[in-house]
This record gives sequence, structure tokens and C-alpha cells, in this order.
Amino acid sequence: MDINALRRLRAIEQLKDSDHWQTVDWLPEIDSTNSEQKRRAVQNELPRLPWLLVADRQTGGRGRAGNVWWSPDGCLMFSVALRFEGEILERIGQLPLVVGVSLAGAIENQVDSPERVKVKWPNDLFVGEKKLAGILIESVVGSGNAVWIIGVGMNVVVPLDEADLMIRQSATSLHREVTASRRAELSIESVLLDLLDGMAQCLSDWQRDEDWLNEHWTRYAFLNGKRVCVALHDGHVFGRCLGIDAAGALVVDDEQRGRTAILSGVVESWES
Ligand code: BTN
Repeated sequence: MDINALRRLRAIEQLKDSDHWQTVDWLPEIDSTNSEQKRRAVQNELPRLPWLLVADRQTGGRGRAGNVWWSPDGCLMFSVALRFEGEILERIGQLPLVVGVSLAGAIENQVDSPERVKVKWPNDLFVGEKKLAGILIESVVGSGNAVWIIGVGMNVVVPLDEADLMIRQSATSLHREVTASRRAELSIESVLLDLLDGMAQCLSDWQRDEDWLNEHWTRYAFLNGKRVCVALHDGHVFGRCLGIDAAGALVVDDEQRGRTAILSGVVESWES
């Protein structure tokens, strides 16, 4: 067996042996790991949760705001389906930010300058001015509790030179950003295991401690203090970003409306 196949087998074994994951699937190809988990949730055919679904290729990768997610070989793509119960539901709006912070924490010590690792609200992972990973969180409300689907796409060793101009200008890869000593050992499997460990730890800490996000967000906040333009469903907000509020909303000092909390929107541009 070649070294890559062995590494893959070992990673799957490790995940299946852990107490955390109740279902682990790793597929060669699918339209979208998020779509598959959504379909299964809607059809009431979910396996035991938490369910980790990884795919080597996606033919219909989806991003936020209806965007297509570029899903070439070398992109790590997975979704986690899980439930939340009890008091945490009052803070569930923070979930995207918590996941973003967890990814940042998992990779910051692998890159040349950890302080360049940031989260652009709500949950784009940036290194410097370039996007390394995106997160798409969806929920399906059925007869029981809602199921949350956390989809992550990270450019690990993607062929950025072959991407279209927009992606070439705005994206980076872990292969480009890691320290030289780490580059040789970089693999989809090793990054997946690091991200999942970090995410499980952060989600658990966040559920126990209501100040968790407050204490961790500022260190990674990409937009704080910058002038931003945010597209809402019914217009735009322009002004200086002041941070986030307790609900996880982006707070902007809008030039006309004054202090404005944005729960859902797309930050279209920012001051670098
Ligand atoms: C974004 O930045 O807009 C979010 C991108 C999320 C991409 C991941 S890849 C795995 C999962 N399946 C999808 O179709 N999307 C997410």
C-alpha cells in the first residue's frame, strides 16, 4: 500500500476509534458534503451524530450567499452534523464565529507569522489579506431538535495558479503559508485531524463558558477598527467596524444610521 493510502486509512481509523465521532464517512466524490447532510436530515435518515462527512471532490460545492465553492483536489472539504440542546441555544448565533476562531487557533502555529491569522466576520479564515478557508453553517429543523451542519472548505494544497483571476487574487493556501519545516509533512489528513480537534475543544469550552467568544474573538478579529461596506438584503452599511455584540452580530458605526448591529450580511469591502 502506498504512503498516501496508508495515511488515509490511519486517519479514518483514528477518527472512528475516537469517542467523539459516532459516524465517519470519507467519500471520493459528492455534490456537496453540506447538501448530503441536509438531504439526510430532511429525509429523517441521519446516522448517529455527531456525523463527520469528508469528500475528496465536490461537484457542487456551495459557499455563503449562494456562491460556488471552488473544490479542486487538495482542498479539504468536510461537514459535521450535530445537535445542540439547552441553554446554548440562546447563544447559537455565535456558532459561526466560534467555528472560525477554532480553525484560526488550529492553524496559527503552523504559519510563519501567527498574528496574520484572522477571522473575517462572520467566519472566513484569512492569512494576511487572503482567504484560506470558508465555513458554511446551515440548520435543518425537523420534528425533534434542529440539526446543525458545519461545512468547512480549506485550501490546503490547491493549484491556485489554475484558479480563476478572482480566486488567484483573493485566496491563499496552507501550503503557501506554512513554515518551511512544516511544508513537507502537510497533508489533508493531518490538517483535518488538527481542525477537528480544535473545533471539538472550542465547541465544548464555548458551551461551558458564556464569555468564551468575548474572550477569544478580539485576538482574531480581522475587521475591528477598519472601515467596511456590508451588503444587507435591503441595502448597505458603511462605516467603522466596532466589533461584535453578545449575539455575534457585527457592530458598525454607520455614517448615516450610527451604531448598527448586523446579524446577517456580506462584508463586501474593507480598508486594508
Ligand atoms: C464560504 O466561504 O462561502 C463558505 C465555503 C464553505 C465550503 C465548504 S466545502 C465543504 C462544505 N460543502 C459545501 O458545499 N460547502 C462547504
